[in-house]
Amino acid sequence: MPGVVDRDPNRVIVFDTTLRDGEQAPGFSMSVEAKLKMAEALTALGVDVIEAGFAAASPGDAEAVRRVAGEVEGPIFCSLSRANESDIRTAYGSLQSTPNRRIHIFLSTSPIHRAAKLNMSADEVLETAVRSVSFARTLFDDVEFSAEDAIRTEPEFLADVMEAVAEAGAATLNIPDTVGYSTPEEIGRIFAAVGQRVARYPDVILSAHCHNDLGMAVANTLSAIANGARQVEVAINGIGERAGNCALEEVVMALKTRGDLFGVHTGVDTTKLVSTSRLLSALTRSPVVRNKAIVGINAFAHEAGIHQHGMLADARTYEIMRPQDVGFDGTKLVLGKHSGRHAIAQRAEALGYPLSGNELGHVFASFKRRADEIGEIDDAELISLIVAATAERGGVHAA
Ligand code: KIV
Ligand code: ZN
Repeated sequence: MPGVVDRDPNRVIVFDTTLRDGEQAPGFSMSVEAKLKMAEALTALGVDVIEAGFAAASPGDAEAVRRVAGEVEGPIFCSLSRANESDIRTAYGSLQSTPNRRIHIFLSTSPIHRAAKLNMSADEVLETAVRSVSFARTLFDDVEFSAEDAIRTEPEFLADVMEAVAEAGAATLNIPDTVGYSTPEEIGRIFAAVGQRVARYPDVILSAHCHNDLGMAVANTLSAIANGARQVEVAINGIGERAGNCALEEVVMALKTRGDLFGVHTGVDTTKLVSTSRLLSALTRSPVVRNKAIVGINAFAHEAGIHQHGMLADARTYEIMRPQDVGFDGTKLVLGKHSGRHAIAQRAEALGYPLSGNELGHVFASFKRRADEIGEIDDAELISLIVAATAERGGVHAA
């Protein structure tokens, strides 16, 4: 496959769709300039494929794909396309300037989509899929095919379509959970079955594209990997249609942290996850919730006394990843009404006020009263508490 990663069987290809599936969701529109900034950040992050847009959707989208593919260097650039010649030619026009190009053709396969959306029989869907992939291969070396709503498709028919498009020259077979309906157990079975059916095409890559409607996008993506997927379609901060796509940062860190279970890796530089997440938030004016896995500001913050005590003894008591590995400076021990004596003493000492015995007890009591009133106690507040609480004892002196 041109320009793509080596064929290490344990390497998972990261296909980022922040600029397509993510960007098409309400509230996440990006200008061409914003898309260019994001594409640079995604390239630095080390994603393998960037889906820059859907060229046939609008002249603006075509222009965005053209500029991202023409001005950013490194990954493979991709445009989404319906399964017709006109869309395929438009995608080609937008990607012409880069040799590292891919077309991503999608066509619905499920009974509900065939009847309600396409008004096509199963045979017509299969024939259209093969015809579009064959035509795309006259313009592109690298063709991906997606069976939209694959999870709600009859398993035999899904396998028939996948086998037929592999035969027609699609190198990547994407099995999307378009409506976020699957479960880890079910999607695992589907990937294993399709994998068996296309086993005679050893170069074909199975790809997972999971939506998060039931909150299972990451779990389903991991199950797909455990059952043979070697490409994941993901978006930064999990943005995407409705409840979003599988979050890039979550699946990448799950694979890294639980390498013992999965035994696969990606090419992502995980130390850039927080900065990339924040760039997207800034460009789309969409803050990340504080308890968001991996990149939320609470992901490595602790306030409860028992947790802070454990963290001060050994960070592994309550952290399964190092904050630096995802791009945070370090752990944050937040001082508030739940904090304990150990954390207060440690922060006071770090600020240059070593406290012990009665002096610490005195400061701790006034700290608790103040925390009940105002919540979080920052360093300046702690210093004024130390100074006030110990003044009548002759004052403390900064070390
Ligand atoms: O969710 C989906 O099915 C898609 C396809 C276009 C891949 O986004
Ligand atoms: Zn999608």
